[in-house]
Amino acid sequence: MPTMIHRRFNFPELDRLYLQFQKDSKEMAGYPDNQFFNYSKLFRFLNFHINNCGDPFQAKASYYRINTHKFEKEVIDIFAQLFHAPKNNYWGYVTNGGTEGNLYGIYVARELHPEGVVIYSQDTHYSIAKICRLLRVPSLHIKSQPNGEIDYNALQDALAHEKRPPIIVANIGTTMKGAVDEVLKIKEILADLKIQNYYIHCDAAFFGMILPFVHEMESQLFDFRAGVDSIAVSGHKLIGTPMPCGVVLVKNSNAEKINSFIEYIGSSDKTITGSRNGLSPLILWYELKSAKREKLTEIINICLKRASYAIQKFNEKNIKAWRNKNSMIVLFTRPSDTIIRKWQLAVEGDLAHLITLPQVTHRVIDAIVNEVAHESKKPKAKRGRKSR
Ligand SMILES: Cc1ncc(COP(=O)(O)O)c(C=O)c1O
Repeated sequence: MPTMIHRRFNFPELDRLYLQFQKDSKEMAGYPDNQFFNYSKLFRFLNFHINNCGDPFQAKASYYRINTHKFEKEVIDIFAQLFHAPKNNYWGYVTNGGTEGNLYGIYVARELHPEGVVIYSQDTHYSIAKICRLLRVPSLHIKSQPNGEIDYNALQDALAHEKRPPIIVANIGTTMKGAVDEVLKIKEILADLKIQNYYIHCDAAFFGMILPFVHEMESQLFDFRAGVDSIAVSGHKLIGTPMPCGVVLVKNSNAEKINSFIEYIGSSDKTITGSRNGLSPLILWYELKSAKREKLTEIINICLKRASYAIQKFNEKNIKAWRNKNSMIVLFTRPSDTIIRKWQLAVEGDLAHLITLPQVTHRVIDAIVNEVAHESKKPKAKRGRKSR
């Protein structure tokens, strides 16, 4: 049997797939996945099945030793520092992505407030509605402002009429428009209404790795200093990793509510899945240790400047384009399906966006702007999209 496993096969379809990915990753302008990374130093770890089941913070090692719990814990420590988590009261783990982090935050919230209601704006990522259904938690939609930020007056109205403890999801960068719900304003509303029994979860999937590195976060402060209870962030978005991953951070005293000891693995467990990817913590650890704060700040500033460049280029061609503060998500009028598919743009209704992550260079921006401008000069009927 081992000889079968080790025989070298030559599959031409794999070569084709590889070449296709090389091309596609250079034309990926619409989704928040940084395609620039090099983890070749870690390739050797692909020779092991690394499984992080259980709690990375447990004092005693679990029976299954091929894990990266130590590295995972260090990753969580780095995020805890970044998000100013209470020193002796934080806990977290490396998730499968932002969605699992959101699931975790709302799961903990529901355990603390079984009668609670999840409140979120209409610009919130679809994972939240899915999670509410999954956890059978009631929810309320609040309308958004045109820039995608929650409408604070509508939120105040809803809270004033609500008897159930609110579990508020604050968007730290909405998916489509990159708008940030101001946690401090939300806290002010809660204080004005004298609501004391509440939970705030921050969906910081993309911007959780942007805002801590910008100079003017001020009103967009979203971390534990602002009084939030949990934060979910994706690892593959700004940092860039070969597989989806993320981090969730909660107050340990809250996470303890769902802790249990599992004899089979010899470990306590308060995570969601059983087997957990042990490679992604290693990759995040490697990148966070090697990139350091200065490097990340530099990359983020370059990306933000490129977003301004994109807007300027669109405007020079008389095409309206805009972005929110501290956002690398550039919005413009939805172009034809041909352009959307070519550049893998994200769309919603009449809007499209591109995101100036490292693979979206000036050359890519120029190409998209020129194609959109060229198309906008054509009569509508001749554009590559049927009217919707
Ligand atoms: C605001 C927001 N939350 C959650 C998610 C889901 O994250 P993931 O794809 O890592 O599960 C996304 C993904 O784009 C997002 O933009």
